[in-house]
Amino acid sequence: MTSFTLMILSGDGIGPETMAEVRKLIGWINARGDLKIGMQDGLIGGAAIDAHGVPLGDETLERCRTVDAIMLGAVGGPKWAGAAYDKRPEAGLLKLRKELDLFANLRPAIVFDALVEASTLKAEIVKGLDILIVRELTGGVYFGEPRGIEDLGNGERRGVNTQVYTTSEIRRVGRVAFELARKRGNKVTSCEKSNVMESGLLWREEITALHKAEFADVALDHMYADNCAMQLLRNPRQFDVIVTDNLFGDILSDEAAMLTGSLGMLPSASLGAPGTPGLYEPVHGSAPDIAGQGKANPLATILSFAMCLRYSFDQGALADRIERAVHDVLNAGTRTADIMAPGCREVSTSAMGDALLGSLE
Ligand code: IPM
Ligand code: MG
Repeated sequence: MTSFTLMILSGDGIGPETMAEVRKLIGWINARGDLKIGMQDGLIGGAAIDAHGVPLGDETLERCRTVDAIMLGAVGGPKWAGAAYDKRPEAGLLKLRKELDLFANLRPAIVFDALVEASTLKAEIVKGLDILIVRELTGGVYFGEPRGIEDLGNGERRGVNTQVYTTSEIRRVGRVAFELARKRGNKVTSCEKSNVMESGLLWREEITALHKAEFADVALDHMYADNCAMQLLRNPRQFDVIVTDNLFGDILSDEAAMLTGSLGMLPSASLGAPGTPGLYEPVHGSAPDIAGQGKANPLATILSFAMCLRYSFDQGALADRIERAVHDVLNAGTRTADIMAPGCREVSTSAMGDALLGSLE
């Protein structure tokens, strides 16, 4: 029997509720007997601040290094919003990404046929959409030095962040994008602002050189990030894989997510070098306004777990099966409040998890 260890960091807000449905699914998998997934729990975000005063404790981080993969719910909430950057829930997530060197963030934006009307764009523009954003996750302006706010002493202050990339940082994430493109539509669009930024020019040159040396069979084009933002609204199906830096990727992936009209459906994976545990989390946040009410959509967290099965546990067939079950549940008209439509049946978080298990059976 193949066995894996999974760290579960439920986090804040709706995180624990959506994760409970993943636990049910793991219970179902373990009961089948051919795969054994051992779970352990840890605190992150506001939950960790409340318990230990820090958004990710050292003991939790060390345990994260020893498991095969990590599932994360969501972090943040108004309770912790005013604190210094390093004492906010988000800092726990950034620390985990950085410490494990999870440099490639995969964010698929898929429009499910059953949800095509949920998009704010016309159905004819988004129907069948299936794009993958590969966002660089451990470099760029999020981590560049120098950074800070300094007092200039003349009544003025100066805020500084630094956008910085090296050859190897660009190439390793580019390689992930090209390799994934080969298994999909075989096309990569690389986005930067090389018209105004040296780091963007280096990005374009390194991606071009990598393409020429190792991936000439994959179609490559380059786009300025602002144009990409526009093209995502104008004609999103022109894209297959988009590879971009940390900040542009943060923004473009939110835009791509909204094309689908259903943030509650979108999973993500953050991957590092081989042998590093992958981190899997829904794209949505902690949604404090609906936390604890059984209203949250658990499907993004469940689909993130399917990515975990595919990328960290090499269980592609089981991942496919779970993704098909999600389609089936939606096609049968089962909906949480966020994706409710006329004629469908509105269910709670846990009833959605049950419907998924029913469909898997
Ligand atoms: C994301 C989020 C994070 C980011 C925040 C919570 C730090 O927006 O994962 O996209 O900016 O990377
Ligand atoms: Mg974001």
